Amino acid sequence: MSSRHDSGHGGTRYGSFPGARPRRLRTTPALRRMVAETRPHPADLILPAFVREGISEPVPIAAMPGVVQHTRDTLRKAAVEARAAGVSGIMLFGVPEDEKKDATGSAGTDPDGILQAAIRDVRAEVGDELVIMSDLCLDEFTDHGHCGVLDSAGRVDNDATLERYAEMARVQADAGVHAVGPSGMMDGQVGVVREALDAAGHEDVSVLAYTVKYSSAFYGPFREAVGSSLRGDRKTYQQDPANARESLRELALDLAEGADMVMVKPALPYLDIVHRIAEEVDVPVAAYQISGEYAMVEAAAANGWIDRDKAILETLTGIKRAGAQMILTYWATEAAQRLSHT
Ligand code: PBG
Repeated sequence: MSSRHDSGHGGTRYGSFPGARPRRLRTTPALRRMVAETRPHPADLILPAFVREGISEPVPIAAMPGVVQHTRDTLRKAAVEARAAGVSGIMLFGVPEDEKKDATGSAGTDPDGILQAAIRDVRAEVGDELVIMSDLCLDEFTDHGHCGVLDSAGRVDNDATLERYAEMARVQADAGVHAVGPSGMMDGQVGVVREALDAAGHEDVSVLAYTVKYSSAFYGPFREAVGSSLRGDRKTYQQDPANARESLRELALDLAEGADMVMVKPALPYLDIVHRIAEEVDVPVAAYQISGEYAMVEAAAANGWIDRDKAILETLTGIKRAGAQMILTYWATEAAQRLSHT
């Protein structure tokens, strides 16, 4: 009658394999710690951070409790704090003043635009101590909210957008970023960005390619975070959640175009993709635990439905176990602080 589940450590034997007792290695915390296969480490973590133009106090993001739109000043402090916690990098997103948004997203390529200013600030504050990265995309800067410029029929114009990305890459690199993160899912974006960087003497600036980026409902809270003007969706450029092999095609193209690191986004609903990509490549693989993933855990925890701290660590462990070497997460600083004590 004894099943594997109701047999204790002594007494009853399990089936005809009396020696096989996986539970033996789960008996004490020290033992479990010793045999753990996956250990999230502060250095795996990258903090995405928002900086908003024209505010004098940080603005909380309702759908992301604990995350704010930073002032230039509080962003510098957040970078220092992340570094002190052992986080490896910071990914910067700029939120311009509403009246600076236009059809081509010109604030995104203005050398004095908010993102460029923030890059300079953070670089001046932490130098090379943190890997400073920037979102390379137009959606925060366009009045229509799309990741690119539109043609006369209102469609996102791939090649016209690439020209804008080339310029964005140059101004972000001039401002002192270590790595750019093209996230608009235009075909050819990695190649164009690489060429633009090289031509401007920025051979050392690397490209963290948003190689796999699904059209996801979990970006919802982010749209509030960057004050997005988007109506409609991004289905003509972001990937269909139904597709897996398509990601390998995106991967092959990005590697051929010179991606130094590749990213999968979102993370949790796409761990199979993280795993497949990690098996394929010999470059570093990142996964982005996005705004909606953050919001889900925070909302459930606020209701007392899950143990927040344990759930956070479990998600990070799962993402790493799937094969991501770096994880972008809004919990980066807090998680790093906690991980250094385990
Ligand atoms: C595009 C971009 C987005 C995110 C990162 N870069 C938004 C989108 O594609 O709509 C989402 C990040 C998140 O949800 O946490 N600039």
